[in-house]
Amino acid sequence: MAWKTLDDMDFAGKRALVRVDINVPIEAGRVTDTTRIDRIVPTVKDILAKGGRVLLLAHFGRPKGKVVPEMSLKVTVPALEAALGQPVVFSEDGTAEGEVVLMENTRFHPGEEKNDPDFAASLAKLGDIYVNDAFSAAHRAHASTEAIARLLPACAGRLMAEELGALEKALAHPVHPVVAVVGGAKVSTKLDLLGNLLSKVDAIVIGGGMANTFLAAEGKPVGKSLCEHDLADTAREIMAKAKAQGCELVLPVDVVVAREFKAGAECETVAADACPEDAMILDAGAQSVAEVAERFNAAKTLVWNGPLGAFEIPPFNAATDAAALHAAELTVEGKLLSVAGGGDTVAALNSSGAAAKFSYVSTAGGAFLEWLEGKTLPGVAALEG
Ligand code: 3PG
Ligand code: MG
Repeated sequence: MAWKTLDDMDFAGKRALVRVDINVPIEAGRVTDTTRIDRIVPTVKDILAKGGRVLLLAHFGRPKGKVVPEMSLKVTVPALEAALGQPVVFSEDGTAEGEVVLMENTRFHPGEEKNDPDFAASLAKLGDIYVNDAFSAAHRAHASTEAIARLLPACAGRLMAEELGALEKALAHPVHPVVAVVGGAKVSTKLDLLGNLLSKVDAIVIGGGMANTFLAAEGKPVGKSLCEHDLADTAREIMAKAKAQGCELVLPVDVVVAREFKAGAECETVAADACPEDAMILDAGAQSVAEVAERFNAAKTLVWNGPLGAFEIPPFNAATDAAALHAAELTVEGKLLSVAGGGDTVAALNSSGAAAKFSYVSTAGGAFLEWLEGKTLPGVAALEG
C-alpha cells in the first residue's frame, strides 16, 4: 500500500490530529446510530496505547463556513465517551488539554471546504502527526482531509486502512467471477458507476427504479413506475457496452406491481413485460431473486450498492432481503467475499440482519460511490504524498 499506517509512526509523547467521520444521525439531542463512532475506536485506542494524545477533527452537517449551534459536535461527546470508555474533552478551538480532545465542527470555518492552506496550517499547529481515519469523507478535498495531510507526517488510521483494503479486495484485485448489485432510484446518478463497473465485473444485477429505465428501454411497458424515459438511449448504450465487454446485465424477469405506494398495499407479481398501465413496479419478483441467487452461487466476489426494490415500505423489501440473506449465507459458508456500502445500502441490508454477515460493510456513502466510479479520492491521494 502506498500510504503509511499507525504502525509506521512514533506517537510517544506526541499529539495526533485524527480526522474522523462522526457525521452521525441525531434525534432529540442523542446519537441514534453509533456505527461511525464505534468504528474509530481502534485508531484512538492504538494511538493512546503508543503513548500519544488524540485531537479529533471532524465535521457535522453542512453549516457552510458559519457557526450553526445545532450543528455543534458537542452533542456527540457522550456517545464518544461511551464508545472509548474514557473522558473526551470538548474544545471550540482544539487547544484544550486532555488525552482525547474533540474540536468543534471544522465546517464552522470558511476555510475548511475551500481546502484553504492557511486554515490547514492553523490546524496543523495543534499537533505533531496527522492521521486520517475518515474514509467516508475522503471524497472531499477539504482542509482537514487534504491540505493538512501535506503539512505534517501523515498516515491512515485503522478504519481508513480497513475500508481501502476491503475495496481493493472487492474491485481492484478481486477473485472472479465478480457480481455487482447496483440498485437505487435513478440511472442518472449511477452512470459513471455503471461505466466503471462494466469493465471490471462479470455481471451487474440492476435493481430498484433503475431497472425500470432499462426495461422501458427494451420496449417493455412500465405503467406508472418511477422511470427515466429520457434515458432510454443511454440505457441501450450501457447494454451494448456491457455486451461488448462480456459483462452480463441482469434485469428482473418478474416484478411486483401495486396501484399504491404504501405499507401493505395490495400487490401482485407479473412478468417483467406485463406491468399494467395503471400500476407501478415496486420490487423484483421471486423468479428474479432466484436468478440473482444463481449469479451469487457462481460468484466469488460481490459488491453491493443500492436496494433491489422500494425497501423502505414493506412488502417491497422482499427481494432485497431475500437476495441479501442469500449472499450473507454464502459469505458465512466461506464461498463469497461480500462488500456493501453507499447511501441507503446499509439501511437496506440491516433490517433483515444480512449486513452483519457480509464480509465488509463500509461506513461510507458518497465516498464508496466515488470509489466504485473509479475516481481518485482526494483524502486518500493526499496520504500517498
Ligand atoms: C457523509 O455523511 O457521507 C460524510 O460525512 C460526508 O458528508 P458530506 O456529504 O456532507 O460531505
Ligand atoms: Mg453524504
